[in-house]
Amino acid sequence: APIQAPDFLNCNPPDLPNTPPDASCCPPYRDGTIITDFRPPPASSPLRVRPAAHLVDAESLAKYERAVALMKQLPADDPRSFEQQWRVHCAYCGAVFDQVGFPDLEIQIHFCWLFFPWHRLYLYFHERILGKLIGDDTFALPFWNWDAPDGMSLPAIYANGSSPLYNERRDPAHQPPFPLDLDYSDTDANISRDQLIDQNLKIMYRQMVSDAKKRELFLGQPYRAGDQPDTGAGSVENVPHGPVHRWTGDPAQPNREDMGNFYSAARDPIFFAHHGNIDRLWHVWRGLRPSNTDFTDPDWLDAAFLFYDEEARLVRVRVRDCLDTAALRYTYQDVGLPWLNARP
Ligand code: C2O
Repeated sequence: APIQAPDFLNCNPPDLPNTPPDASCCPPYRDGTIITDFRPPPASSPLRVRPAAHLVDAESLAKYERAVALMKQLPADDPRSFEQQWRVHCAYCGAVFDQVGFPDLEIQIHFCWLFFPWHRLYLYFHERILGKLIGDDTFALPFWNWDAPDGMSLPAIYANGSSPLYNERRDPAHQPPFPLDLDYSDTDANISRDQLIDQNLKIMYRQMVSDAKKRELFLGQPYRAGDQPDTGAGSVENVPHGPVHRWTGDPAQPNREDMGNFYSAARDPIFFAHHGNIDRLWHVWRGLRPSNTDFTDPDWLDAAFLFYDEEARLVRVRVRDCLDTAALRYTYQDVGLPWLNARP
């Protein structure tokens, strides 16, 4: 059977080796809150085109900064506030919700086939809340284009200390233009920038093409109601997803906050750009070869989550609701795939 949407009344603190005092991630919720089933946006609504973060123009940047600033100003108990938005990610990262009907088993949307769809939906609602705050139904989140040489450092728009996109809990050594290592494992590679770029492109080829020829290998392993979590991550979830998180977080913090740990990762606005690229790569993977297709198993299609939408309504969404990005009314700027010929 599919993983069911969590019961928000049944919510625990996250499980961490060094738990900071404010680490409750439970969503605001009152018993009896009406939950409605997701409906896609009207087909006539504008298509949001998510831009590469290093190519964002001044006008879009100003809108994005204003939207995030407004989100940070919302009352902390508003589910659309930044305070609550980052907690949504924390809540689905293990230990916080039990699986409905299985009190000894947690809901964990990482390390399994829920990884891509859950994060797609999370970004979908986050983007629409930001757009709503500035009254712009074309607003689109930037993506961190780390699979292309020009995107292989922390995007400058997140590194400006006076911007709402800035976050102080990042590795101070990894400020732009310091080059990003897609296979980072807690020490900086001692090779030239050109060699690192070359290595990164080969990693992309491996994770997107040679090691991603079956859907389980790309999307992750089945995880159904009653299963222990962590059944197995897909290629891109392992690398570069994980290394980019750790590369960005601050090694001086107890849990490599913010980006280096699931509970805190979405406190950094760059989280949403990182996951924009992850989501884009799912879209790209499906176009690479005819056999790259999504699961048809109903236990995947009917797995369900709860999110608050831009009107602060609680919505139940299934994996099957997120498979068509055009129906969700967004797409990605076309920036090419420089790794496609980087067969090692
Ligand atoms: Cu939910 Cu990048 O992690």
